[in-house]
Amino acid sequence: MLAIIGGSGLGQLPNLTITHRKVVRTPYGEPSCGLTFGTLNGCEVVFLARHGYGHTLQPHEINYRANIWALADLKVERIFAVGTVGGIRADLVPGTLVVPDQLIDYTFGRSSTFFEGGAGPVTHRDFTEPYCATTRQCILQAASRLGEAVLDGGTYAVTQGPRLETAAEIRRLESDGADMVGMTAMPEAVLAREQDIPYAALCVVVNHAAGKGSSQQHIDFDQAVSTMDVAMPKVLSILAATV
Ligand code: HPA
Repeated sequence: MLAIIGGSGLGQLPNLTITHRKVVRTPYGEPSCGLTFGTLNGCEVVFLARHGYGHTLQPHEINYRANIWALADLKVERIFAVGTVGGIRADLVPGTLVVPDQLIDYTFGRSSTFFEGGAGPVTHRDFTEPYCATTRQCILQAASRLGEAVLDGGTYAVTQGPRLETAAEIRRLESDGADMVGMTAMPEAVLAREQDIPYAALCVVVNHAAGKGSSQQHIDFDQAVSTMDVAMPKVLSILAATV
């Protein structure tokens, strides 16, 4: 079974033929919401809405450990994560789809490891490549079969939120090497790594990051929501082709 974690704008998978839903508990508490099981393009899939069904959980309030534990407990083969980001690099304009290949973690205070509080040995997981190359290729090749443009690679800066960044913060992220900015890739990606679940993400650029783009004034989130609405049908068909 494959797992899909949906982010903002993807609180459900309309093209999933649902078989059942299940509320699960984990040693880390409750996931963002119940798990939805079904078939997508003939393939067994479990879907989890990262922000909860009513989109009520802020990025820093998400119980990432419970989410990943619940999927690990199901022994899912891969996780395809979907998220929205702001574009820092000039070609990452609103509406662009991108499969990041690197990330920089600026979050704080989030429970970001399974390796604590137990009697286990000190453990340092390799995270040189935070995204699984094969899982990334699954998405990129599916998009290419459909003729949908998806950028291959880019560095995702993960900020704490829920506020957006200042223009100076974005300049700093840019000089650090970030191409896009979002709030949810971490600790999700590292927790998947700790559970040995191949993980990759398909990101939708929904706005120019603070101080970028032509207006350079402020971020119009209503505009971002409409960009998301336009992009989501593409995301859904890429996901269906990916699985
Ligand atoms: N910053 C951080 N997270 C985001 C943004 C942004 O500009 N857009 C969508 N998620």
